[in-house]
Amino acid sequence: MELGRLEQGGKAVKTPKVLISTAKEQEDWRRELSVQLPEADLYAGMDAPICDYAVVRKPEASLFATQTQLKAIFSLGAGVNGLLAIPTLPKDIPLVRMEDAGMASQMVEYALYAALRQFRRFSDYRQDQLRATWSPRPARSRNEFCIGVLGLGALGAEIARALAQFGFRVSGWSRTAKTIPDVTCEQGDDGLRRMLARSEMLLVLLPLTDATRGLLDETRMGQLPVGASIVNLARGELLDENALISLLDNGHIGETHLDVFEHEPLPSEHPFWRHPRVRMTPHIAALTDARLAARQVASKIRQLEAGHPITGVVDRRAQY
Ligand code: NAP
Ligand code: GLV
Repeated sequence: MELGRLEQGGKAVKTPKVLISTAKEQEDWRRELSVQLPEADLYAGMDAPICDYAVVRKPEASLFATQTQLKAIFSLGAGVNGLLAIPTLPKDIPLVRMEDAGMASQMVEYALYAALRQFRRFSDYRQDQLRATWSPRPARSRNEFCIGVLGLGALGAEIARALAQFGFRVSGWSRTAKTIPDVTCEQGDDGLRRMLARSEMLLVLLPLTDATRGLLDETRMGQLPVGASIVNLARGELLDENALISLLDNGHIGETHLDVFEHEPLPSEHPFWRHPRVRMTPHIAALTDARLAARQVASKIRQLEAGHPITGVVDRRAQY
């Protein structure tokens, strides 16, 4: 199916053929891409001709069996673990992930909400209210509240920066060394241990890879101080859900905010739904902004067409 193209203003330009394959909102993506990349011919569906680029979110695996001439694949999400699991995904062309595309500011909002809720003890006051108990607690200074951020990429680094600017004491952990003003940056197993030991709140912004799957097991979550909270905004499989429930039940973990789960949608019988100290959202911590995403994809397609390098290309060995 040809999806149409906007007027080009007369200039003779090469016409890249771009296939859009998304499980939802295909028409929105087409509209935004047609505005941002008017020189392209846009297609959707299995009857599309052989295309130069594919812009995808949860595509059919059969897409890659028929589209054999792609020069690059653009993921509309920041996380590419789902795409990398598709056996037909071509290995020899760039797979390009979303870089921020409006998501970092939403992640900052979520992180600030969770941090303020814990720092100002709003959950405790809610419990007091339910028991009709008047029990003021002493004030604390923001720089006494230690927050750890796992993953300092496009999203985690922005969160770490924002929380540090707000005055919290922030540490971050990444694979390679980072420098972020007022953030203690750690790497490696020792760095992780140090960070966990001091973090009253742990924010998870790692990609799901072979190296990070199950990283937050019972032992590592148990290294957090008693009463700490865990906020998982990345992928459910990064932490052991059963171990988290045990640690919530025995009081080691005070509260958790979960936006992502091993199985989504979360099955209705899952204990997280009814656990008093689990706060849940349905994988909405940060949604790709269609306009910004289309602008990013358009700019990168132009760079590739001009033979220039682009950022955001997934390192297939590192899996992110
Ligand atoms: P990114 O830019 O690729 O950053 C990933 C960060 O994780 C980098 O700092 C990286 O270290 C670090 N990292 C990767 N493997 C590691 C390891 N083995 N040990 C230590 N650090 C490691 O990704 P992003 O754009 O910030 O997104 C992060 C994740 O958030 C995505 O992969 C996705 O799963 C999730 N996400 C969720 C939502 C939602 O709505 N819930 C929305 C968007 C994204 P280096 O800096 O050294 O490479
Ligand atoms: C959403 O989860 C994304 O990876 O963009």
